[in-house]
Amino acid sequence: MPNKPTPVIFDCDPGHDDAIALLLALASPELHLLGVVTSYGNQTLAKTTVNALRLLQFAGRADIPVAVGAAQPLQRALEVAAHVHGESGLDGPALPPLATQPASQDAVAFTAQLIRSAAQPVTLVPTGPLTNLARYLAAHGTAGIARVVLMGGAIAEGNMTPAAEFNIWCDPEAAAQVFASGLDITMIGLDVTHKALLGPAVEAQLRSAGRVGTFVAELNVFFSVYHKHTYGWDGAPIHDAVAMAHVIRSGLVETRARNVEIETASELCRGRTVVDLWRRTNRAPNAHVGVDLNAPAFFELLVERITRLG
Ligand code: RIB
Ligand code: CA
Repeated sequence: MPNKPTPVIFDCDPGHDDAIALLLALASPELHLLGVVTSYGNQTLAKTTVNALRLLQFAGRADIPVAVGAAQPLQRALEVAAHVHGESGLDGPALPPLATQPASQDAVAFTAQLIRSAAQPVTLVPTGPLTNLARYLAAHGTAGIARVVLMGGAIAEGNMTPAAEFNIWCDPEAAAQVFASGLDITMIGLDVTHKALLGPAVEAQLRSAGRVGTFVAELNVFFSVYHKHTYGWDGAPIHDAVAMAHVIRSGLVETRARNVEIETASELCRGRTVVDLWRRTNRAPNAHVGVDLNAPAFFELLVERITRLG
């Protein structure tokens, strides 16, 4: 008897890799995508929300509700990543003109209602700053949440600064609240997602996979420009799709139960995820931290699922 689909709420800032994660979720019968929540991050909230709505239209899934989330961090000033994702936040291939609206509820009320009405505890997949989740937890606590599988942080990398990954750097206070919540948290960080480079070979497979595959390949063409310039890579790390894939198939990412603390006091190391990988302290583990990825198996899953979307 196959397992019941896992109910999921996707909290994102599309964003090229968020977009690929969303399409992967839509193509995966292991998941039941209850709804999407948007956040500032890769671009302003207005732009990420329009991108999420248009992506769902493009995939023929305008039935999936979208709620508008946080426009800025809890305390910090708003910063967006237009240098990576472009002015629209999803520069590159065209999307259909906007023809739908977000839900009338704000993200916190929307999330509370979806969790209350779900038949089983819900998995939250945040792939942007953690402001929405921190606000939700402050209002409603952890009841009804099965686990959180988030893209963010790093053991030994930084992409917004030498010390910090963008999602955590945007709102370190929110991240600190999430990692202190007691929830079952899986942290898919840069150490793992930098192994998920979508390069020319997979791009070619996607182009022959159909309309959606071609769209994903075109997203990757734009997303690769920044990474070629910054890292010299021939491809882009599709960070958020790795987090979503981990919910779909747990064996792709190897994790370790470790303590993770968030730096909020230092400006130099703002948003650093201090991962006690070698257990140098007595701090109790509070997250399953990604340490390795089976990249070939991940891309095999991605291409196979995107192909299903036609
Ligand atoms: O640091 C990478 C993360 O920041 C990804 O989620 C990307 O979409 C941006 O949100
Ligand atoms: Ca993201």
